[in-house]
Amino acid sequence: MNSDTIVGIIGSGAMGAGIAQVAAVAGHKVVVYDANAAALDKAKAGLGATLAKLREKGKLANAEEVMQRFTFAESVSAFAACGLIIEAIVERLEIKKSVFAEVEKIVGEECVLASNTSSLSITSIAAACNSASRVMGLHFFNPAPLMALVEIIPAVQTDEALIPATKALMESWGKVPVIAKDTPGFIVNRVARPFYSEAIRIYEEGIADMATIDWAMTELGGFRMGPFTLMDYIGHDVNYVVTETVFQSFFYDPRYKPSFSQKRLLEAGWLGRKSGRGFYNYSEGAAQPGPTKDEKPGHEIKERILAMLINEAAEALHLNVASARDLDLAMTKGVNYPKGLLQWCDEWGADKCLAKLDALYNDYHEDRYRASIWLRRKASK
Ligand SMILES: NC(=O)c1ccc[n+]([C@@H]2O[C@H](COP(=O)([O-])OP(=O)(O)OC[C@H]3O[C@@H](n4cnc5c(N)ncnc54)[C@H](O)[C@@H]3O)[C@@H](O)[C@H]2O)c1
Repeated sequence: MNSDTIVGIIGSGAMGAGIAQVAAVAGHKVVVYDANAAALDKAKAGLGATLAKLREKGKLANAEEVMQRFTFAESVSAFAACGLIIEAIVERLEIKKSVFAEVEKIVGEECVLASNTSSLSITSIAAACNSASRVMGLHFFNPAPLMALVEIIPAVQTDEALIPATKALMESWGKVPVIAKDTPGFIVNRVARPFYSEAIRIYEEGIADMATIDWAMTELGGFRMGPFTLMDYIGHDVNYVVTETVFQSFFYDPRYKPSFSQKRLLEAGWLGRKSGRGFYNYSEGAAQPGPTKDEKPGHEIKERILAMLINEAAEALHLNVASARDLDLAMTKGVNYPKGLLQWCDEWGADKCLAKLDALYNDYHEDRYRASIWLRRKASK
């Protein structure tokens, strides 16, 4: 793969269009295909408008040239000359598998097939192909043109030689690639779970209200958004479903258990900002609850959530999901954490983090609060 590689994008929704933009701006010819003609038209118009806006702002002088690099295709046969295909269609395993099997028949032997799936097993997608060794995960973050992180996920079958080549290609696109094992949630969608779930737990137990928890995590923790504001922003149709999928995929490990508070929001159609109501009410004139800015309990909330996050990163490191460097890069570049969690562990002290978790475990007697052996060993050093 190099700058002459023609890139094919399957699915021209939010992610597909964003990834197409990134590849075209990086100099590639890009073939965009969607099964829905209206979605394809929308992507074409959207990309044209985005590139024009970038030119107006002086950020993309050759916007017209970039637009010429796109082909919008109504059939997968247009992928014949592609050297890399990135799939970003609906998150359904059986559909992805059949699309991969179909596309494999059209492209050449050297063409790399990648999926942007957030939660499905890359290995099971690869199994749908005759040449499974060319399949991998290439997980971009939303919005793809703005978020630097890309998780590269080799399947069990993936040819290892493809990994450095893909890493180099992503760097040439201005991205920050990290390598993650094919395990549920890869890095970010796994390690970030406690940011949401522990915050909800604290709220459900009545320890603090949502506004106070959000305040503690932003003002005292340095996060850009508090957990409730962020969940409302992501949308409960996405955030809750990821939690539930990760929980099921981890064979129901209680660490990832979803909450009823969030499930009920989804059932009510209170999806967050986009529907006008989620944890908070966004309708015009609605009163916004204010936080109780009491620093001592605020720090306790922050430390409880942070200890759970660090524990998750520690366990992912222990199980070789990714390197320490990649785990920290993923959280800072993929979800804008103020610091990498393993770095945070070093600064805070593994012993303090462990003491927090052990205190929770002793209080609750729940497996959810078990500390990673990695953290325990580090604390004892
Ligand atoms: N939205 C996010 O924040 C995000 C982030 C990272 C990864 N992802 C993953 O990216 C993928 C796409 O997500 P999205 O948010 O862009 O979805 P989306 O609904 O915005 O777009 C999906 C597009 O795929 C098209 N499509 C569906 N089935 C198809 C098929 N069989 N062949 C061709 N086109 C088909 C649809 O018409 C639609 O235009 C999913 O796997 C999702 O898990 C999403």
